[in-house]
Amino acid sequence: MSSGSTGAVLLLLAFSLLACLCLHYVSRLESGPVRWVHDEQRELSAHQRLVYEAAGRQNTSGRAVHPQTSGVYGDRECTMAPEARFDCGRDRSLTRGECEGRGCCYAPLAGSAGPPWCFYPRLYPGYTMGPLTPTARGQTASLTRRQPSYLPRDVSSLRLEVTEETAGCLHLTLKDAASQRYEVHLPGGIPESRADNQSVLYATEYRSDPFGFIVRRRSNGRVIMNTTVAPLLFADQYLQLSTTLASSLVSGLGEHYTSILLDLNWTSLTLWNRDMAPHADANLYGSHPFYVVQEDDGFAHGVFLLNSNAIEVMLQPAPALTWVSTGGILDLYIFLGPDAHSVIRQYLSIIGRPMMPPYWSLGFHLCRWGYTTSNTTRRVAQRMHDANLPLDVQWNDLDYANKRRVFTFDPWRFGDLPETVDGFHQRGMKYILILDPGISSTGAPGTYPPFDDGLKRDVFIKNATGGILIGKVWPGPTAFPDFTNPETRQWWEDCIRAFYAKVPVDGLWIDMNEPASFVQGSVEGCPDSDLENPPYTPKVVGGRLNSGTLCMSAQQKASSHYNLHNLYGLTEAHATHSALLAVRRKRPFVLSRSSYPGIGRFSGVWTGDVRSDWEQLRLSVPAVLQFGLFGVPLVGADVCGFEGDTTEELCVRWMQLGAFYPFMRNHNDKPNAPQEPYVFGQKAQAAMRTALNLRYSLLPFLYTLFHHAHTSADTVARPLFMEFPTDPNCQTIDRQFLWGSSLLISPVLEPGAVELAAYLPAGTWYSLHDGRPFYSGGQYLLLEAPLDTINVHVREGHVIPQQEPALTTTASRGNPFFLTVALSAGGWARGDLFWDDGESLDTFETQNYCYVVFIAGQSQVVSEPVDLNGALDGLVLGGLQVFGVPSPPRFVLANGEEVRDVTYRADTEVLTVTNLALPMSEVFTVQWAL
Ligand code: NOJ
Repeated sequence: MSSGSTGAVLLLLAFSLLACLCLHYVSRLESGPVRWVHDEQRELSAHQRLVYEAAGRQNTSGRAVHPQTSGVYGDRECTMAPEARFDCGRDRSLTRGECEGRGCCYAPLAGSAGPPWCFYPRLYPGYTMGPLTPTARGQTASLTRRQPSYLPRDVSSLRLEVTEETAGCLHLTLKDAASQRYEVHLPGGIPESRADNQSVLYATEYRSDPFGFIVRRRSNGRVIMNTTVAPLLFADQYLQLSTTLASSLVSGLGEHYTSILLDLNWTSLTLWNRDMAPHADANLYGSHPFYVVQEDDGFAHGVFLLNSNAIEVMLQPAPALTWVSTGGILDLYIFLGPDAHSVIRQYLSIIGRPMMPPYWSLGFHLCRWGYTTSNTTRRVAQRMHDANLPLDVQWNDLDYANKRRVFTFDPWRFGDLPETVDGFHQRGMKYILILDPGISSTGAPGTYPPFDDGLKRDVFIKNATGGILIGKVWPGPTAFPDFTNPETRQWWEDCIRAFYAKVPVDGLWIDMNEPASFVQGSVEGCPDSDLENPPYTPKVVGGRLNSGTLCMSAQQKASSHYNLHNLYGLTEAHATHSALLAVRRKRPFVLSRSSYPGIGRFSGVWTGDVRSDWEQLRLSVPAVLQFGLFGVPLVGADVCGFEGDTTEELCVRWMQLGAFYPFMRNHNDKPNAPQEPYVFGQKAQAAMRTALNLRYSLLPFLYTLFHHAHTSADTVARPLFMEFPTDPNCQTIDRQFLWGSSLLISPVLEPGAVELAAYLPAGTWYSLHDGRPFYSGGQYLLLEAPLDTINVHVREGHVIPQQEPALTTTASRGNPFFLTVALSAGGWARGDLFWDDGESLDTFETQNYCYVVFIAGQSQVVSEPVDLNGALDGLVLGGLQVFGVPSPPRFVLANGEEVRDVTYRADTEVLTVTNLALPMSEVFTVQWAL
């Protein structure tokens, strides 16, 4: 052995000793058990530090030159299953030399997709964690990076804060210890967490060097997150954190064109709001850095990264996931459930629960780009009426606006818009029009008050040099309001108030709010800077962050557009909601295209410019379900499709499915064949009418579901896995879905189909159509599905409150109620109804509502009304149908009196009682004697 190598061995021994002596901070939150990360890793860690210190040299640029992988780590460090390899060249592609220069392993594989060729060795230097010290509700520690990473502008000292928000929610932040970086502030803030006395569901462990953490489910020890598998990187414009996943059943991370389960086969998802018609592999209109994982035994957990910068999420089959963000801080919330319902509740306790929509907004909406005059618009509504087709809300797209300028209306083509809107109101209908954020900037002074006034009040987004940033949208050159500025919000309200004084709209449709622009960045381009050209740009449509939107260096009150871009739609929705509230003093209705966590508090969302084809019909189901997980229950796709010509069959099937979107609007693009229900043949119209009437009959139930979403963060349109978490068949289903826990919707999603294989989870399901029972052991059944039918099944044990349909909700709300009672095997069922005037503010919060519980059992149905405001006065129960009555009743009594209008079908075991008039606000009993 040479003297040099003897020296190295001595050094190694000395260092190992030092490493053993030095504190290895592995800790836990108060209530979690102490766990130590594997000892072998600790030794390797010490060894590796030595290797780096011995072999790391400084090159001329001052960056560390890392040792060659092969010579230093040996096989052990680089030998790992391909699916467990974490990409060391995520920021750019690397040659072998460059890869090894980073201290990473290089192993080329056939093909370009799949496992990375350049990947981190088992241990890779990163941050070192100092001692954890207790805080009021958790712990804190400092993290330091001793050597620079391969990224420009490392943040070398970080502060880790771990907070027990609640028993089910753990909050972990990593931020710059030395200076303030941009952090997301959700409008309305994050509610103070309430201390609950339950013991926490999680336990944490830390590895100090290189830093990593593990979160486990306490009850069974399952690893929920393990970030020790790859290094933490935290540079000014590149933050990276990897974790293993507890299973491959991952949903969320919207908005993308995908099934309910994400593809973990080396895919990446970019979260960067973009005006982009739904298609595969594209970042779409909204960003939701939140995922839910179904664990193997029916448990579930969720993770939310509160970060609004451009994010790319890499998914790999390990299963594992890597977050990369281009800025901000790492602000992670981990929700332990333990079931999926609780995960969503815990998530919504952070981002806010959804608003209560006005009742009428659950009716049918009709729109198209191309209703070119108010006359045409009126005629459309009239034709719906004449064809006996329900319609609550008539819409106008940009056609109404003079020169496409918002807050104006075309004096020639829409000169009588105010009277038109009054006319709709007189018929019990509502009216909504579109509002784009881009404010035309080219009118002569004095000709367009929104711009003149906006200029005066300094409400517009600035470019890097402080001038107003001008982009291009429908009216031509436009300025963009900065909704992070309180003055802008006031100006926006003033504009809405002035317009509302002329055109009393019932709600607003906020489009193009990614924000979209037809020029890259601005009409003058963008400066050459790190914001416009970050060291790493996630895979975005157009290749650049400013593609199809504003310059990243644009300045807003709260920060640069680089940081705020993904929040634009949310901040606009917040401003629009507040403005409508102030102007109308009624429950606001806002529909937004762009979205970010928390938007459900202010707005519904539609899924943008879907094509009129079967694939888009089919994928609209998971799209709607995902928005439910994101706290936006009021969601739907453009019924019959927006782009391209629909066909009669497609449109019928889409109307049938759309009748079960929580938000139902038929909307069409200018050049396409018309698709209003009345343009089709009589058979198609009849099928559409049936679907609409079915929806309208179910609105009391749907409204009650929204009440539970608003007050308890329940979902409305619900994936099967949430309701049947231990049924493996339900893990993947996204061609069927539930309304609440009791209605199973099985739409036809293929052309030419007249039957359909539908999965019925174990139990009894009754056809809503005729009450026929299906006793399922958890199996697929072949159901008839002719063109006039959508299959809907009621789950045993549930009571569905319904009302006779009408052409508007104004009319249907006065009609008799009826109940569908689906008895369980033991003869029981339960349901409820929330009822108020449908549009006053905060009716639940101010106790201005009625609430009725219906309980069926022992051959009777009893109501238990809580009448707080008389909203049910004058309304009656007109009848009921009871599914699962084993034999014909000898007689039926309603409030003790015998009822005449009774039918019983022995083949389906359905008892039907009609012609009742029992006051809904009082207790009633309907008994059947067997
Ligand atoms: C884009 C929207 O997505 C679409 O729904 C609308 O019709 C057009 N903009 C025109 O306003």
